[in-house]
Amino acid sequence: MGALEKLFYSPVGHAVANRAGLADPPTLRRGRAWPKGAIVLAPLGASTLAAETLSLLGREVSAPIVDAPAGTPPGYGTRIGALVVDATDVATIAGLEDLRAVLRPAVRALEGSGRIVIVARAAAGDWEAQAMSRALDGINRTVGKELRRGATTNLIYVTPDLVASDLVSTLGFLLHGRSAFVDGQAWHVRGAGETIDHLADQPLAGKVVVVTGAARGIGAAIARTLARDGASIVAVDIPAAGESLAAVANEVGGTAVQLDITAADAGAIVARHVAGRGESLYGVVHCAGITRDKMLVNTDADRWGSVLDVNLVAQMRINEVLLDPAVAGSVTDGGRIIGIASTSGLAGNKGQANYAASKAGVVGLVEAMAPDLASRSITVNAVAPGFIETAMTARIPFVQREIFRRTNSLSQGGHPEDVAETIGYLLDPASGGVNGQVVRVCGQNLVGA
Ligand code: NAI
Repeated sequence: MGALEKLFYSPVGHAVANRAGLADPPTLRRGRAWPKGAIVLAPLGASTLAAETLSLLGREVSAPIVDAPAGTPPGYGTRIGALVVDATDVATIAGLEDLRAVLRPAVRALEGSGRIVIVARAAAGDWEAQAMSRALDGINRTVGKELRRGATTNLIYVTPDLVASDLVSTLGFLLHGRSAFVDGQAWHVRGAGETIDHLADQPLAGKVVVVTGAARGIGAAIARTLARDGASIVAVDIPAAGESLAAVANEVGGTAVQLDITAADAGAIVARHVAGRGESLYGVVHCAGITRDKMLVNTDADRWGSVLDVNLVAQMRINEVLLDPAVAGSVTDGGRIIGIASTSGLAGNKGQANYAASKAGVVGLVEAMAPDLASRSITVNAVAPGFIETAMTARIPFVQREIFRRTNSLSQGGHPEDVAETIGYLLDPASGGVNGQVVRVCGQNLVGA
């Protein structure tokens, strides 16, 4: 910790920071914890989709309070845990008034780490219906910025063929503390004819998942979280990190493979390791990544190439091998591939042209692969972390780091576990309707949100 950082966190520095408006951020509800307060369900029409999904999740629901058109809105009288709005029947701009009317009292009443989840139809139909669908995105993003005490809002666009069991994993994730650092976002869930209609404690039981970059930071947290969810972990990292890699692998009861993922035969080595143990492979999480930051004018070919090589090219090469059904130990049908992007890749970031290229490339790769692998029921998604507290971000100068921490709707950096939980959700066999998506884990960071 540098001198400036020590001063900032001293009792005097803390008092000064508080008076300057840098209040302590809220402690977020995390893990497999439901909201404490009531879950309020507001259907804006005849649809029973959200009601059926909440029933599959075993959640009791309360009725919403609707804001009177004029005058002071009635309060709930007590804090509520979540508001789930079923807006799948809304198709007009005028219909958005019903949304405003249920949001307004709920926003005031939400408990700390409370949740708003809006379920809506993906843009389709006439021009007005499509404009309305997008208008929801604007509302969702704004409400995320207005909520307090660590409460979040998210929007799920669904296709007409989707049924309640397709939505269980997504709605369960969003209501749980697992989604603590996912805020102000919209993503799409399709009908996948899910046969799993409940939230399992160990959805990955008996499944083998490869995690690269598992020796520390986010990768280690992914290994721990997926092991909690029942997965058997193959932890991969460079030989120089061998000791910590072995420690993580032992801790989670998995196996370790010391490997530079840029090696030409990296995919083959992983496949041989899995096949050699008589196992088949369910998922691959490409977490290994590096930064070599410099302004573009100072970026030489080596800084450029090394970052693209580790963060993108290696991933592509490994995927090619592990997605070849002819290779023993490759990913089985119904499997999962996860890439790690970054908000820097979505928005660009000064001094990170190489890194942003690699991370935006991950988004492009995921979007290209997802439709191609759908026939094998393999989903391909990415997670884009914002500012997460790890050794990588500890290298950022203190003032800049504190700014990065604060410039999101939750006023704090995320934990490696927040990224890991989101990956666990995407890996869940019940998440088959989520494909080709990029889920940001950034607390609605101003950058890239
Ligand atoms: P970290 O630097 O703490 O860990 C990265 C791990 O990858 C290390 O164990 C390292 O040895 C391993 N690795 C690097 N090159 C490798 C190679 N050629 N072969 C095998 N393993 C290799 O990083 P952190 O913070 O845990 O980040 C993990 C991922 O999340 C990276 O892809 C990073 O770009 C991404 N990310 C991180 C954010 C953050 O705020 N920490 C924000 C956005 C994205």
